[in-house]
Amino acid sequence: MEDKRLIDVIRKKVKLKTTHKRYRHIEGVVTSAIWLANRYGADVYLAEIAALLHDYAKNYTKSELMHLADKFNLKLDPILTNAYQLLHGKIAAKMAQEEFGITNQDVLAAIEFHTTGRPDMSKLEQIIYLADFIEPGREYADVDTLRKLSEDSLERAVFTALNNTMIYVLKTNKLLHPNTLDCRNKMLINNPSLADIS
Ligand SMILES: [Fe+2]
Ligand SMILES: [Fe+2]
Repeated sequence: MEDKRLIDVIRKKVKLKTTHKRYRHIEGVVTSAIWLANRYGADVYLAEIAALLHDYAKNYTKSELMHLADKFNLKLDPILTNAYQLLHGKIAAKMAQEEFGITNQDVLAAIEFHTTGRPDMSKLEQIIYLADFIEPGREYADVDTLRKLSEDSLERAVFTALNNTMIYVLKTNKLLHPNTLDCRNKMLINNPSLADIS
């Protein structure tokens, strides 16, 4: 059931907790997520909640994230321990439960997996994953190509965003989380025509 007061409570807390710059990014993700939800027939209310909370743990330092991971009993793989920034989605999902009583599993998964993706993402998960890349404040080469693709096909846009992420991760010698690769491969297995994207 929709609860506009919950959205207000979350928005106020997010604003207090984040920097001005990050808050602008978060509101950009809200805008893009609502647009994508309308366009592709997902729940707009749930998209707004997930978008508002997706970076709720992004301001934490490595030691704070590790402490919270411990507190929430998260199982960490070696990639998450080393590329600790990847942890902020998992921790934000736990905080969404604890601080705001969010129990909707789709919302929690969209928050949790927005950094890495995972195989067989739901529509809402794909929307939050993609909104993070195309929100109006983002400026990087090819962002307009991805925005254009987002108008035509959620699936193609997410697939392209996964490819772009992997290219960036490899070029900058960062750790690649297996969820990102598995997600990308599974999409291509399910829909071989994705290979035709130029
Ligand atoms: Fe994030
Ligand atoms: Fe983000």
